[in-house]
Amino acid sequence: MSTIDLVAFVAYPYLCLTIFTVGHAYRYVTDRYAWNAHSSELIEKKHLFIGSYLFHFGVLGTLAGHAVGLLVPQSIYDTVGIDSAAHTALAHIAGRVVGTAAFTGALLLLARRLCVKRVRLMSTASDFITLGGLIFVTGVGTYDVFLGGFNVLDSIAPWIRGILIFQPDPNLMAAVPLRYKLHILAAFTLLAYSPFCRLIHIWSVPVFYLFRRQLVFRRRVAT
Ligand code: HEM
Repeated sequence: MSTIDLVAFVAYPYLCLTIFTVGHAYRYVTDRYAWNAHSSELIEKKHLFIGSYLFHFGVLGTLAGHAVGLLVPQSIYDTVGIDSAAHTALAHIAGRVVGTAAFTGALLLLARRLCVKRVRLMSTASDFITLGGLIFVTGVGTYDVFLGGFNVLDSIAPWIRGILIFQPDPNLMAAVPLRYKLHILAAFTLLAYSPFCRLIHIWSVPVFYLFRRQLVFRRRVAT
């Protein structure tokens, strides 16, 4: 095992996950009222609509796909009759659809921020860094599902599970092509950055709204 693999695939992921956790706690304590998406919807809606919907559909599908495809061991798929070839084929078909949607959506969101003057004027450096990071991560990931051709089920999948159960094995990453490594390192960097930019709104999805008690409005009765 090389020192670079040890730093990149053990120390760096844990550093990023620590910044992710502590960063969210810090923002919650110090800056709770700015915890939102800083939406530019009021400034411009037409171009936002298509980019935002494509991106959110794609990225939510992608993250669900990562959870189902990488975090569930192949042995469980074998018990329900899905061998590793079928698993990979399914992951590639679904991944191509959601990856293309996420990447195209992110490109459209960047184009809108650059081309619509009022949105450009209200954009911060952090907005461009965030979008640039998303475009890089989704672009390289999508390239990998179209043209990567590397078996991730015996390498990246057990490695990421090892990270999550605190038994990291960087040897699993030794033979992984550079493109996949760049995707993963950039994704961890984005996770570490997420508490300090508008990505923080991921944790503010108003799910409790669906279950809250109904408000009853009555007409005022004239007396
Ligand atoms: C940090 C942990 C992550 C790991 C270990 C990881 C790993 C991977 C791997 C191995 C692939 C290629 C799958 C294949 O060839 O079968 C992939 C694809 C992809 N990744 Fe990631 N990824 C991570 C995080 C992310 C994040 C945070 C995003 C989005 C913001 C993302 C977006 C994508 C996209 C769009 C694709 C192509 C579509 C798909 O396969 O779902 N990844 N990722």
